[in-house]
Amino acid sequence: IPVDPFDLVIFGASGDLAQRKILPSLYHRMIAGQMPREARIFGAARSKMSRSEFQDYVADALRKFAPESAKDEESLKAFLDCLDYVAIDATGEGGWSDLKAKIEDGANPVRAFYMSVAPSLFGAISERLSQTGIATEDSRIVVEKPLGHDLESARALNAQLSASFDESQIYRIDHYLGKETVQNLMALRFANALFEPLWNAQHIDHVQITVAESIGVAGRGGYYDKSGAMRDMVQNHIMQLLCLTAMEPPSRFDPDSVRDEKLKVIRALDPVELKDTVRGQYRAGNGEASYKEHAENPDSKTESFVALKVGISNWRWTGTPFYLRTGKRLRARMSEIEVQFKEPPHNIFRGSERVPGNALVIRLQPNEGITMLMTIKEPGQGGMRLRRVPLDMSFAQTLDIDTSEMADAYERLIMDVIRGDQTLFMRGDEVEAAWAWTDPILQAWAESSASPEPYDAGGSGPDGALALMHMDGRKWREIE
Ligand code: BG6
Repeated sequence: IPVDPFDLVIFGASGDLAQRKILPSLYHRMIAGQMPREARIFGAARSKMSRSEFQDYVADALRKFAPESAKDEESLKAFLDCLDYVAIDATGEGGWSDLKAKIEDGANPVRAFYMSVAPSLFGAISERLSQTGIATEDSRIVVEKPLGHDLESARALNAQLSASFDESQIYRIDHYLGKETVQNLMALRFANALFEPLWNAQHIDHVQITVAESIGVAGRGGYYDKSGAMRDMVQNHIMQLLCLTAMEPPSRFDPDSVRDEKLKVIRALDPVELKDTVRGQYRAGNGEASYKEHAENPDSKTESFVALKVGISNWRWTGTPFYLRTGKRLRARMSEIEVQFKEPPHNIFRGSERVPGNALVIRLQPNEGITMLMTIKEPGQGGMRLRRVPLDMSFAQTLDIDTSEMADAYERLIMDVIRGDQTLFMRGDEVEAAWAWTDPILQAWAESSASPEPYDAGGSGPDGALALMHMDGRKWREIE
């Protein structure tokens, strides 16, 4: 279904995110028939560029980052026709009247502003937008991480945005929420009555969430070294996965019902003790360079891996730990959530010492799908021996689709901005609550004299992470 015709201004249009994600996503949505051809996309950045220079620049970006679809010359031309460019001085006077004149020259009903710039410019740009009247009461503003470095800076950012925009106009992107499989988590939980009665501490032994990456930090060491895995992945993406797994059923699938429930989860998280945290940093291994080399900082103590044991103090979850882990340069790229159910209360089978509990594995990427681990009788005459086997559902096979061609998270989210649907965006209080929980962990690390534990590049993470589970008689799933 096509969205309403819109004007979208991309601040920072010559940056990496715009080239890699925003522009290719819009282009794909146009090819899919969702972006109307009356839409206008304005690039806005500091450098002077003419409209045609910007069009050439975008054509190059699309050929690089959307090579297959950019071969379609007719669509490419139609897309480039939607583009215009304004050189703008974010903190000064230059370019604003020009932008206003161009925007007011059209009659598209939706206006959105994408801040693909450093957060230090969010305040200045939003103030200009509202002062000049370029942003109206129903315009939308899109921002993206890093949404603060800690609670204090996140509060300051929120205050700057809300000085010019109402919360209902602010779209904070966490691209994990745009992933098809992450949304499927909600369908799995709330469109299947089967699991809900069991989805609690009485029946679930623990939950483990893994976001393992095989890539390192090459090329973005400067940003990453100031951030680390906790700020880069845990405070946002993993927190969202945790919330969707743990939240109460919202009464409706609408923005505030969903976000209220997520917020309650974050607020119920227990403070994490230092002993329940592991931070690691990859060293050279398996032919790959070390973190320090990538970050170009021989003394760096930044973590490229985090594992945490987290408790949630509420009626549903008290007693069921959530184990979280994420890291760079691990053996494989693998994101999944495993819900490990308890063992049956009594074992009637003498042939097996233990009857393993069932587990539900939700694979977010790659090989998106769901696996239920079931216990069956081992075939043969060996008596009643038990074995755990997978009952497997892969989206690609079951739905006969090529999951690599599923709409990218950004495509979905940008179209949601135009539609005015905030369900898959973070609310300001949610971001602040996540920082309020993360800050003491970061502070405890900063105060500790210990360095992150080294792990081999291309391995499965530091031994400390394995120990975190072993101590509780539990085990991580293999990263493979
Ligand atoms: C980004 C992080 O937000 O998410 C990156 O800054 C990380 O460090 C990326 O690699 C992971 O996203 P995805 O979609 O590849 O899982």
